[in-house]
Amino acid sequence: MKPDDKKKAAAEAALVYVESGWVIGVGTGSTANHFIDLLARIKNRIEGAVASSRATEERLRKHGINVLDLNATGNLPVYVDGADEATRHLHLIKGGGGALTREKIVAAASAKFVCIADDSKLVDVLGRFPLPIEVIPMARSYVGRRIVAHGGEPQLRAGFTTDNGNLILDVHNLEILNPVELEGELDHIAGAVTNGLFARRPADVLLLGTDSGVDKIE
Ligand code: A5P
Repeated sequence: MKPDDKKKAAAEAALVYVESGWVIGVGTGSTANHFIDLLARIKNRIEGAVASSRATEERLRKHGINVLDLNATGNLPVYVDGADEATRHLHLIKGGGGALTREKIVAAASAKFVCIADDSKLVDVLGRFPLPIEVIPMARSYVGRRIVAHGGEPQLRAGFTTDNGNLILDVHNLEILNPVELEGELDHIAGAVTNGLFARRPADVLLLGTDSGVDKIE
């Protein structure tokens, strides 16, 4: 099965976590896009969605799905989003699409985080995928030096600005043995807005599209 078909299968399996009358959180990326396209089929049953990026907001609106501001909804029952890497402990790297800050906010404000991915995203140890860190532009070099002190190799994502007007450093060559600890340490670097580790608020369920169906890890 092609990776894209596996993503679609995982997205379809996430629909059972959506209940009538709910406002749900919706993530960003190609797997989340499949979910949005499938969600359109049941759009009349839900109250609406909170988007984790401008791109997602646009796609939801195109399908006629009501988009709400998180400030107006309170906490959400469920958030559905993809990941760049995931472990069996449900720790994730996210932010390949640069939407990590809004994704982390929506995940934090949701009772259940359903992560959808194809099985190529499952790893034993996080870090082969470069860890994205959103930084305030004036702090770019400072944050970079602090990352080097952590043993990583930061690379500025060329020509990219986040939805929040910031930059992304993609950090290569990290072997992330303790994601909970590293997430906290990186959070304390001045000028680093968000890092792409989702370990302090991990996924609650991981739905992985495989050749033989969708595996559920929880
Ligand atoms: C967006 O910023 C990311 O966190 C995505 O969730 C992640 O990059 C997964 O993207 P795909 O579903 O396109 O693989």
